[in-house]
Amino acid sequence: MSHSADPLPQSASPFALDAADAYAGWRRRKLATAARLPVVEVDDVGRLSDSEREALLQQCGERNFALFRGRTGHVDVASALQAFGRRMGLLDLDQNLCAEDSGVTAITVKPTATDHTYIPYTSRPLGWHTDGYYNAGSHQVRAWLLYCAQPAAEGGANELLDHEIAYIRVRDQNPEWIRALMAPDAFTIPLNIEGGEQIRPDHGGPVFSVSPLDGSLHMRYSARQRNVVWKDDAATRDAAAFLLDLFKTGDDHIFRHRLQAGEGIVSNNVLHRRDGFRDGAGDAGGKRLIYRARYYQRLPLPKET
Ligand SMILES: [Fe+2]
Repeated sequence: MSHSADPLPQSASPFALDAADAYAGWRRRKLATAARLPVVEVDDVGRLSDSEREALLQQCGERNFALFRGRTGHVDVASALQAFGRRMGLLDLDQNLCAEDSGVTAITVKPTATDHTYIPYTSRPLGWHTDGYYNAGSHQVRAWLLYCAQPAAEGGANELLDHEIAYIRVRDQNPEWIRALMAPDAFTIPLNIEGGEQIRPDHGGPVFSVSPLDGSLHMRYSARQRNVVWKDDAATRDAAAFLLDLFKTGDDHIFRHRLQAGEGIVSNNVLHRRDGFRDGAGDAGGKRLIYRARYYQRLPLPKET
């Protein structure tokens, strides 16, 4: 699917810049979402009941993510998480450079197979981003799942911000910035070369886009200054600076949580970051281990009541 054709949504989508009424109603509902996030208790993440599934989708319908806590531990976490994803209506797993065969990736401090150090596999902090922002337009990550098998001895908390709230903050400040961020060349990830071999071509695309399939808002973003190229015009530069500033200043809708063992987050690829952390020494435990799965489709919306 190309993002270059008709990047601006039409009609009564709240994301159309000329649809003031649709935007106002949607905006009101979004901002009314409580800043406190309830934890959805689930008995077994590998075997979600109907009511557990509904509670998770309900949360995701409101804020594009949900926090859950499983009561049962798992020997085969990857299989349990695959079952969780399927039950939530998520099917295609993103096979990234470092994914294990199941498509569920163990994120822990480890040497990677390539000569490039990927920050996720270190104890360093990770800045604000959406997953797969470096992917081609046709392979956008629209949902992801994180599950904590073991927290670090210290640190490693996550922060999340519904990307629809980020959209509201930008549009309220200057709608022209939305237009700039929806341009098909707003944000480019330059080609990636490792060991003389090109493993990723240039990927230009919009920051905000609206799915022609279901009208949902998608965001490609990284707060990194290196290895991302913003379109060189005033509106794009100002919009990018505004987003950086938003993260620095904070927002009522930023949700902070340190995942405990058995807890996880499922999301429509909202903005997120991670604190740095310190693993425990030796066999005393406290080596952070988070499992992650990524999907090309979004969570199904709960039925309107
Ligand atoms: Fe991420």
